[in-house]
Amino acid sequence: MTRRIKRLAEFDLSLQIKDPAFINTPRDYQKNWLLNRSMNEFARDVYAMHDVASKFVQGSDVQGMDDRTQAELTDFEIMEDWQIPIMQAMAEVVTAKRGNILEIGFGRGVGSNLIQQCGVDSHTIIECNDSIVGRFEEWRKQYPDRDISIKHGLWQDVLPNLAEFNGIFFHTYPLKESDYVEQIANSTTFAEHFFEHAANHLHKGGIFTYLSNEIDSLSRDHQRILFKHFDSIELSMVSNLNLPQQVKDQWWADSMVIVKATK
Ligand SMILES: C[S@@+](CC[C@H](N)C(=O)[O-])C[C@H]1O[C@@H](n2cnc3c(N)ncnc32)[C@H](O)[C@@H]1O
Repeated sequence: MTRRIKRLAEFDLSLQIKDPAFINTPRDYQKNWLLNRSMNEFARDVYAMHDVASKFVQGSDVQGMDDRTQAELTDFEIMEDWQIPIMQAMAEVVTAKRGNILEIGFGRGVGSNLIQQCGVDSHTIIECNDSIVGRFEEWRKQYPDRDISIKHGLWQDVLPNLAEFNGIFFHTYPLKESDYVEQIANSTTFAEHFFEHAANHLHKGGIFTYLSNEIDSLSRDHQRILFKHFDSIELSMVSNLNLPQQVKDQWWADSMVIVKATK
């Protein structure tokens, strides 16, 4: 049995490896190096969490979720305003090479406006909610000469029939409780379930961006999943987000990492 204990002023970390064949390096010191690296990194991460936690807003009580596939939602229920700077940063990332852009989830049309302002050759939007498609039809009227089209349906049904794009902007939410458990509670990041589909629908060199749900850096786990599907990742950060104390979304930090994943 291999045992490691790291004692710090504020907490202790203990790791016990039960299977002697687990992490089976050619030399013992290599195993030590890997384990020490992981323990040190985890300890530093706990200190970083301590720092960000001091700036968390209070948030709201967690409530059960009704199916919202076809719910009639207010602007606030679709997307709270504090996310607008994130939409801006994502729109700039996804349009870096202009071309043909796919956006998943029209919502309030904030991201769509910003994508249009950045300038693109074509803009395809996938949206499943009938009332939000109604909002899109109204919004579309301000851009009569642009190449903008909507595919009405779940991306799971619509995307297989679409070709490849130069950029994909993904911003949906879980539609029902079982999606929430699978896509948020049991995932590294919400958009993880979409990574392989994004990669399958991008040209070589195409760009993918999504709401990362990462506060101040990208976890190793998150990076590893991205590198399964993309050749490179570039990170930036949006800070000073103006979250209300009683924010409804499950997000409490005043920053979020913006990911540009390139195929
Ligand atoms: C948070 S809103 C998007 C907000 C948008 N980025 C904006 O700037 O206004 C999420 C949108 O994704 C749509 N959506 C959620 N799941 C979807 C799915 N599986 N397929 C298609 N649309 C989906 C919702 O109906 C909603 O309009």
